[in-house]
Amino acid sequence: MPIANYTTANVPTCFVMVGLPARGKTFMSKKLTRYLNWIGVNTKVFNAGEYRRRIYGTVNCKHDFFNPNNPSGQEARMKCVDLALEDVANFLHKEGGQVSILDATNTTKDRRKYVYEQCQKHGIKTFFIESICDDPDIIYQNILEVKLSSPDYKDCGEEEAVKDFIARIRHYEELYETIDIDKEGQLAFLKLINVGQKFLVNLISGYLQTRAVYFLMNIHITPRSIYLTRHGESMLNLKGRIGGDSGLSPRGVKYQQKLSDFIKEQNIPDLKVWTSTLKRTIQTASDVPAISKEQWHAIDELDAGICDNMTYEEIQEKYPEEFARRDQDKYHYRYPRGESYEDLVTRLEPVIMELERQHNVLVVCHQAVMRCLLSYFLDTPASEMPYMEVPLHTIYKLTPIAYGCRVEMFKQDIPCVNTHRQKPTDVRLDRSPDAALSTVPEHEMGDYDASWNRNSPLKTERAMNSKDGLP
Ligand code: ATP
Ligand code: F6P
Repeated sequence: MPIANYTTANVPTCFVMVGLPARGKTFMSKKLTRYLNWIGVNTKVFNAGEYRRRIYGTVNCKHDFFNPNNPSGQEARMKCVDLALEDVANFLHKEGGQVSILDATNTTKDRRKYVYEQCQKHGIKTFFIESICDDPDIIYQNILEVKLSSPDYKDCGEEEAVKDFIARIRHYEELYETIDIDKEGQLAFLKLINVGQKFLVNLISGYLQTRAVYFLMNIHITPRSIYLTRHGESMLNLKGRIGGDSGLSPRGVKYQQKLSDFIKEQNIPDLKVWTSTLKRTIQTASDVPAISKEQWHAIDELDAGICDNMTYEEIQEKYPEEFARRDQDKYHYRYPRGESYEDLVTRLEPVIMELERQHNVLVVCHQAVMRCLLSYFLDTPASEMPYMEVPLHTIYKLTPIAYGCRVEMFKQDIPCVNTHRQKPTDVRLDRSPDAALSTVPEHEMGDYDASWNRNSPLKTERAMNSKDGLP
């Protein structure tokens, strides 16, 4: 029987952004795309402005281009939307895409009707996301933060750019019609009012729309930083053994002190500290000053199952085929009775959601967990994530800027072992009879449930319902 997954359970979907310029549409489109890709939903943004710049360049696109009384500008913008819609459909129908995000203003009822009908024609479900913001300070700040550096203004000074962008907003305001529930009640939509002050949801359906709404309800734009670090060097790290629950080595204890000094120097207001439930992270965070400290099971290191406490050499010797399978596809490989990186992403999803809601947080975690968390913030593809270098005794500071985040690394001067295993260049599964004997014997498998795979609803429910996952 086929297992339902994101693809089969959901019709190809287009999230259609709506709103005046500088209302955070691109910001939300990019962030939502990063989140959906991270949870395994193939998503891509189609930004109308990029089509416009590609076709018409930037010089001819100053505010008059957007004037509703300029027929050639109106025609050009319509052409951009058509091209974007064509790519939206190609991505969903020919390139394995699951969600397209149409990042355009779509500020009139007629335009939304057109987009809706075009999508219907291609069997694409639409969900409209309108951002409304009438706070002039936020809008002005948005212009300074992202619009001045836009390619549209590469040839003019700051003052001129601000003036032109404000004139562009005025042109849009002349025709702007917010989604009207009485006239457009047949559309599925979310309205976000003043950056999360209020929300209105209409006709929401399906897993993808629900996830998107939940995500958008949790993000904020207040400046803050997230600090990530692995625990200090542990006794098992010294022995080259994976997993386990050992305490810190003497050098790990020195890092514990260094981390606390570093955090004090940063002078971070209202810092919260999250650790896993394992000794080495709790010990590492023990001297850090914080307003609260919480332990999460969800942050525990990737479960290496029957290989827990072994060295990589021992695993290769005892289970050579398993070892080679991991090197072949490390992201999807699940240790017998343990987890894969893909499983870990599902386990960490509530942590990411909570991080989105919070302000300053320090997360003291583990190698595989750190790779998963960093890959969310840095938009690293799943295939590269399990090989990211995340050395011990190094603090990563992530600060949201414009559409992404700035990463600063602070390597502390305390020697430690290197636990990174390079991706082997030549991975082949040894199919010799001897190798067959090396697969995991049944008595070592216990009640391991191999059907508990990525898209199984059982797994999602376990991860989502687990009280352990919540602080
Ligand atoms: P345009 O139509 O010109 O492309 P836009 O609506 O896509 O504009 P963005 O470029 O996304 O606007 O604006 C980015 C800025 O919006 C960021 O500085 C971000 O802090 C802010 N922002 C994010 N979410 C919201 C929101 N819901 N309302 C208002 N501003 C927001
Ligand atoms: O070696 C430290 C460690 O945190 C182990 O406990 C864990 O199994 C491993 O790193 C994860 O890294 P990889 O996925 O590269 O084996």
